[in-house]
Amino acid sequence: MVEDILNKDKLTKEDLLKLMLIDNPKELEMLFKKAYEIKLKYRGNKVFYRGLIECSNICIKNCKYCGIRRDNEKVERFSLTKEDILESARLIYKNGYASMAIQAGERIDEKYIYFIEDVIKSIQNLSQLDMGITLSLGEQTYKTYKKWFDAGASRYLLRIETTNKELFKKIHYNDNLHSYEKRIQALKDLKKSGYQVGTGVMIGIPGQTEEDLVNDILFFKEIDLDMIGMGPYILHEHTPMGKEFKNNLISEEKRLELSLKMIAICRIFLKNINIAATTALQVLDEFGREKGIKAGANVVMPNTTKIEARKNYNLYDGKPGVKDNSKEVKYSLEKNLKEMGEEVGYFQKGDSPHYFKRLQKKLNKKS
Ligand code: 5AD
Ligand code: SF4
Repeated sequence: MVEDILNKDKLTKEDLLKLMLIDNPKELEMLFKKAYEIKLKYRGNKVFYRGLIECSNICIKNCKYCGIRRDNEKVERFSLTKEDILESARLIYKNGYASMAIQAGERIDEKYIYFIEDVIKSIQNLSQLDMGITLSLGEQTYKTYKKWFDAGASRYLLRIETTNKELFKKIHYNDNLHSYEKRIQALKDLKKSGYQVGTGVMIGIPGQTEEDLVNDILFFKEIDLDMIGMGPYILHEHTPMGKEFKNNLISEEKRLELSLKMIAICRIFLKNINIAATTALQVLDEFGREKGIKAGANVVMPNTTKIEARKNYNLYDGKPGVKDNSKEVKYSLEKNLKEMGEEVGYFQKGDSPHYFKRLQKKLNKKS
């Protein structure tokens, strides 16, 4: 019985799979209710904002699902200037978000590594060293991760996308640039460099099973990470997977439901980590992010990229907020959150408590 599983202290893989396979509204409701209770217990009735800046859509990789992949010639490529980024950072700081996320396609050239280092230092300068900076800039060397950490970034998100290695090979090219082993090594390097580390997967990838998703959650536990950012897979028409699966994808409702289940089960199983209600949820449902919070997420990343650049950062079709005015978006989300009994954690970085526990454990081991 689902109710019995939800009352257990320790869940087995079998339990997790039973929760993932819930197929009726009553038990789904119970799952979300339990996850929300655990969110309240470990993270309070607070939602933390990270002002999102999409800095560039130039990417050296060629992931088969992604709209800004290297070989998509239909994309108009852009890179924000340092001043553009600082302008958004000032806005984020002024709005009291206390944290921001810098996202871009992957580049590994020296000039770029230096550019990011310089931008991080400048943001910390304008915020009196008080901005929680999350980077989402792909696979880099340990040296680069360390350099950006020392410059003032404190969190890094690198999705594993799926822990089913066969599926990973199918959705990427099977070459040195898209290697599962390298992704795992990068996650290890990130932890060694001192970051709060986040990963995540895409949910509802063609060929992915509920058991795969459960294995993803077990992997999150095994690598002992601090944050999760995951969301539904969404087609992009100008990609190899977009063409292949145009008429052969599980429904939007199912993908949304699976994504909310993933959030809920992660919250129940992993407890004190930060979990984002990502933009992709909002693509499938206008209130996808609010539903994500109700299922146990506690972080939202409002887009604070310059409007002119947003339309070119299309990882998938139907991205919301391309024309939105940031202010209006901010107020409607906040109003909805308030109605749900949630507060926005202004002027608080909302770091992952799991990270500090992890550091403490490490210190205790040494002494
Ligand atoms: N659907 C959903 N998520 C996507 N991403 C890239 N393309 C898609 C898509 N078509 C996600 C990947 C990547 C992050 C930057 O965006 O998970 O890690
Ligand atoms: Fe590049 Fe990331 Fe898109 Fe892959 S998912 S093509 S690494 S931006």
